[in-house]
Amino acid sequence: MPAVLVIGAGTMGAGIAQVAAMRGWDVVLQDAAPGAAERGAAGIRAQLDRLVEKGKMTDEARATALGRLRTAATLEDAAEGIVGLQNRQTGGRSEPCATAETCSALAIEAVVERLEVKREIFQRLEALLPGSTVLATNTSSLSVSAIAEGLRDPSRVIGMHFFNPAPLMPLVEVIAGRASASEAVSIGTETARAWGKTAVRAKDTPGFIVNRVARGYYLEALRLLGEEISTVEKIDRVMKELGGFRMGPFELMDLVGLDVNLAVSTSVWEQMNRHARFTPHDIQRNLVAEGRLGRKTGLGFYAYDGPTPTPAVPGRKGDLAMSAEMQRAVHAFADAAGVEDCHDACRLIFVRVLCAVLNEAALALEEGVASEADIDTAMKLGTNYPHGPLEWARRIGTSVVGRALRALNTAAGDDRYRPAKLFAAT
Ligand code: NAI
Repeated sequence: MPAVLVIGAGTMGAGIAQVAAMRGWDVVLQDAAPGAAERGAAGIRAQLDRLVEKGKMTDEARATALGRLRTAATLEDAAEGIVGLQNRQTGGRSEPCATAETCSALAIEAVVERLEVKREIFQRLEALLPGSTVLATNTSSLSVSAIAEGLRDPSRVIGMHFFNPAPLMPLVEVIAGRASASEAVSIGTETARAWGKTAVRAKDTPGFIVNRVARGYYLEALRLLGEEISTVEKIDRVMKELGGFRMGPFELMDLVGLDVNLAVSTSVWEQMNRHARFTPHDIQRNLVAEGRLGRKTGLGFYAYDGPTPTPAVPGRKGDLAMSAEMQRAVHAFADAAGVEDCHDACRLIFVRVLCAVLNEAALALEEGVASEADIDTAMKLGTNYPHGPLEWARRIGTSVVGRALRALNTAAGDDRYRPAKLFAAT
């Protein structure tokens, strides 16, 4: 059996370890905090118990999966454990692994999102594990190349970005850093597939695919609220009912955690030279400063103390102030997108939020972050978008999207809707 070392037994590490064990891999789960690896393993056991109760897993499969899982308190013990498993498989020969099947060991790091902590772990891993072991990071916002910096052999480092909850979310973004060897990227991709996930490949750029393209969904909704164009519940309702999104932007921020969402926005904004498209919004900053973090604190954009969530941030329906050209462009976009029975404000909400998402996807494509197919797949599987943004843009019509973006850009005056080349006037 192939083996994986998972470093960090928190939300993501435990989830990744569960996926691997359920898919027949031997797993060593390590965490530096006392008792954390055992707590992670106990959490996995509870998850598998639930699957058995629901009839989704047999008792035998549960026992086999748990039998593959061991824990370690130190990286040295964990490395010893994984090398032992590797030697058992290869008969002691140190072979470079060509495919996921023959690759006897992989290490995935899922510790706290701090560059210096991750760098130190990778330096220790490089010294502890044979050169054939691919070293992956689950970072969501740091540069894979920066994490690999200073290693003797940075070519063995890749990103494998899982989504939360890892056992349920079907997507893994496989990231090639500047120095990543193509074999290492292939092993990451094949491993994700062997674990039942869809793998997309992304360049090592801020937010990769999903965390970058999704910024538009959140930030544009916040701007609409800040400009007093509409309210939290109306913006959420429009995006669900007209856009077909499963959750509105404010509901999603409450679910993810306003602090976590703000940290990603801030990180992408800093790495994108503080471009106006990514500027974190003061409304969100203030809520985080007040400790209103969403569902986990019972209060965010909504309050969760009653039988159903109730809006908890005041919003006003203010002046729409649309120029004649913006009005025409917004209506043309909404009509082409199949929007019916909806007045100016509701169309403007729909068009602004969707335009921000579609343009970000097209800019990511233009900058070579990923292929068109992978960008669409990533947004559908990583965030449950109803359509891939690029296929959606093509269905609406790239010239229609471009016209709306140009009208919005003229009104905004800070270049945040500058159309991607895909939407440039023809
Ligand atoms: P978490 O806070 O639940 O778990 C982190 C774990 O790492 C803790 O158990 C901590 O004790 C352990 N740890 C800290 N320093 C360590 C060290 N030096 N050696 C070993 N263990 C150490 O964090 P979470 O949410 O699981 O995130 C982990 C990583 O996954 C981060 O890089 C995060 O950006 C990324 N990520 C998080 C997602 C999420 O939705 N939570 C989604 C995708 C990626």
